Amino acid sequence: MCPMRVLHGRAVQTGAGLFFGVRGCYATATIGAPAPPPHRLMDGYMDDLETLRAELITAVEDAPDLGALEEVRVTALGKKGRVTALMKSLGGMDPETRKAAGQEMNRVKDAIAAAIEARKGELEAAELDARLARERIDVTLSARPERAGSIHPISQTWDEVVAIFGQMGFAVAEGPDIEDDFHNFTALNFPPDHPAREMHDTFFLPQRPDGSRHLLRTHTSPVQVRTMIHQPPPIRILAPGRTYRSDSDMTHTPMFHQFEGLVIDETTHMGHLKGCLQEFVEAYFEVDDVPMRFRPSFFPFTEPSAEVDIRCSRKGGELRIGAGDDWLEILGCGMVHPNVLKACGIDPARYQGFAFGVGLERIAMLKYGIPDLRTFFESDLRWLRHYGFAALDVPTLHGGLGR
Ligand code: DAH
Repeated sequence: MCPMRVLHGRAVQTGAGLFFGVRGCYATATIGAPAPPPHRLMDGYMDDLETLRAELITAVEDAPDLGALEEVRVTALGKKGRVTALMKSLGGMDPETRKAAGQEMNRVKDAIAAAIEARKGELEAAELDARLARERIDVTLSARPERAGSIHPISQTWDEVVAIFGQMGFAVAEGPDIEDDFHNFTALNFPPDHPAREMHDTFFLPQRPDGSRHLLRTHTSPVQVRTMIHQPPPIRILAPGRTYRSDSDMTHTPMFHQFEGLVIDETTHMGHLKGCLQEFVEAYFEVDDVPMRFRPSFFPFTEPSAEVDIRCSRKGGELRIGAGDDWLEILGCGMVHPNVLKACGIDPARYQGFAFGVGLERIAMLKYGIPDLRTFFESDLRWLRHYGFAALDVPTLHGGLGR
């Protein structure tokens, strides 16, 4: 049998221009109804391709918007699209026919893709035109004001305290927020199981292989220990920082701030402590002659220990520092206990000194009339705008500390 009689060319008009196709010839009739020979397939294929091309190009050109265009694209060229489906029929052709048909197929595909791109450009331009017509910019509208940020009262107070003690020759010292038992308690003369530890309930980290547990420091006093271990006297440091306790109510927050002072030398005595604190209180509250009283107290790491009160008046609900006949407690202090010096490798027969610890929020509240401790940490911008400080108003003793 010689099924192929002749192959001759056929010109097909497409949207993308003329391309050249092939047309097979019919075999003479055979018995029964066998599958059509390859050239018969090719013939039908070309017709199908042309119909499909014309249909899809029309659909592309008629797509009213980008969504509809995308749908046409998927129907045409998608994985389950019509062009793809037709492509599968190439499998039944002999290699030579398949090659020619495949080329036609690709041309049709490219023509459809090009038509889609062109339509997409048109639709996008139309959409932009519509948007430009719809959205108008009012250039006469005044610009939104930019608000300057402000300094949180904690940072402000911190800077004020550092400025005051800096003037007295104190260097700022730092320690980690995560401490171990030795620095937070033992070296500060809190024996294990001593009831004084109960006042310092804090947050503990998971137990370590050696059985110890790190904790969030309950006070800034461990910085005393770290400094004395690393530096021989004379020592004069101020250690401001974050501290933690497992406490939360009107007057306690789980995280708060303290600053610690430590002075160690051969002849440092309580008179120096008193003079230093007097100087601090008057500079900080910006009041001359604030009467102070030292009330006996107890801290494991100082002996003797005292709590310091300052004169104030609360008449008419207004707090005034330095006047009146009330007392206000502001800090704890004392002479460093010989056991603390020993634990830090300092000879208590030769050296002695004083220490003090102050709550930063507390003195900020007193100076700036902030009634509720918890508001410091609520991050309410209205509160910050009200109580905050201008960023470039860095506190100095000569320039003024407060506002
Ligand atoms: N560490 C103490 C506390 O948090 C405060 C304190 C009191 C610190 C007396 C001192 C001091 O250095 O001498 O309760």
